[in-house]
Amino acid sequence: MADDEEFRFETRSIHAGQEPDEETGALMTPIYANSTYEQDAPGEHRGYEYSRTGNPTRTDLEANVASLEGGEYGRAFSSGMGAINTVLNLLESGDHVVASEDVYGGTHRIFTQVYDQYDLEFDFVDMTDLGETEAAMRDSTELVWVETPTNPLLNIVDIEGTAEIADEYDALSVVDNTFATPYLQRPLDLGADAVTHSLTKYMGGHSDVVGGALVTDDEELDDQFGFYQNSVGATPGPHDCFLVLRGTKTLPVRMDRHCDNARALAEWLESHDDVDRVYYPGLESHPDHDLAAEQMDDFGGMVSFEMDASLEETADVVSETEVFTLAESLGGVESLIEQPATMTHAAIPKEERVAAGLRDGLIRASIGIENVEDLKADLQQAFDAALE
Ligand SMILES: Cc1ncc(COP(=O)(O)O)c(C=O)c1O
Repeated sequence: MADDEEFRFETRSIHAGQEPDEETGALMTPIYANSTYEQDAPGEHRGYEYSRTGNPTRTDLEANVASLEGGEYGRAFSSGMGAINTVLNLLESGDHVVASEDVYGGTHRIFTQVYDQYDLEFDFVDMTDLGETEAAMRDSTELVWVETPTNPLLNIVDIEGTAEIADEYDALSVVDNTFATPYLQRPLDLGADAVTHSLTKYMGGHSDVVGGALVTDDEELDDQFGFYQNSVGATPGPHDCFLVLRGTKTLPVRMDRHCDNARALAEWLESHDDVDRVYYPGLESHPDHDLAAEQMDDFGGMVSFEMDASLEETADVVSETEVFTLAESLGGVESLIEQPATMTHAAIPKEERVAAGLRDGLIRASIGIENVEDLKADLQQAFDAALE
């Protein structure tokens, strides 16, 4: 029922892709814990034959995520990297890819350390400047990879402008929408060909599951995604799909609180003497604040900031917090804190990392939905302990 576009986001997040079970009335999509399905006659099945190819719990999740992104077709994967890998499976040797220079470390790693060996070429550019993206394009460019807001500097890339450039070169434009979620930003509406997600983050929302997704409006592209999804086999189990489905039901209310808390903390950090710079697109001081306000409905729950501190002192700050947990990942209800230089972005060689603006004093925080005054007090006591 609620896949229908006449329903608003909050309604679709709870109902899209899901109907009460016809036989029992059970409200929630069951966890279909089986690998295979009875056939009525050889080759005649009821839509499912083997769970790598398709599973009813996964079907509901795929329909739910597609509806939230405003897309026709959704595919779920065992991780965000499984989804990203599926896009790269479409490329052929000799192809060229243009990507933003501060992509997630794992995306940088699969590009440069896995696919590099298959004679693909990758250029990492400052995509906040459409001129740089345009200048990096070649006749052989088949994929333009956008992450916005970027990780961890929260730069904003103009999705519509970048998709237009990709179109001119007949290249596919794919947006990693993990940080914003479809509640705040819908790249397909802005002209992107496909959207990818780490469902592990805000979509799941409770730090209890790893998953990924791809959504597109293009049937042919979806068929290709489906072919590689089934052939490579990075598919999620039904229990994981169930957990993400439970998560997306509360995505709008969680995101509202994430955004409110992040904005309050970013403002507090910006006026703090121990902090040199705050990266949050909701701040008027952010260089792309206007663009963010245009293409996003709010500014998200991630805040990065740079302390006037060494690598060791910064490590002490993130180790001293008590409410914020020192951990990688993001997007759960609880606040997390980390040091990109030694954790999420350690895979990027130091010179490249610093050149991209990821200096030693940088801290990234995933702002949870706790009481914001407790979060401020926690950071203050960590600063006091580490920088005394
Ligand atoms: C922006 C972004 N994209 C993709 C991924 C990869 O997702 P996963 O860890 O679910 O494989 C991550 C993980 O941190 C991420 O932050």
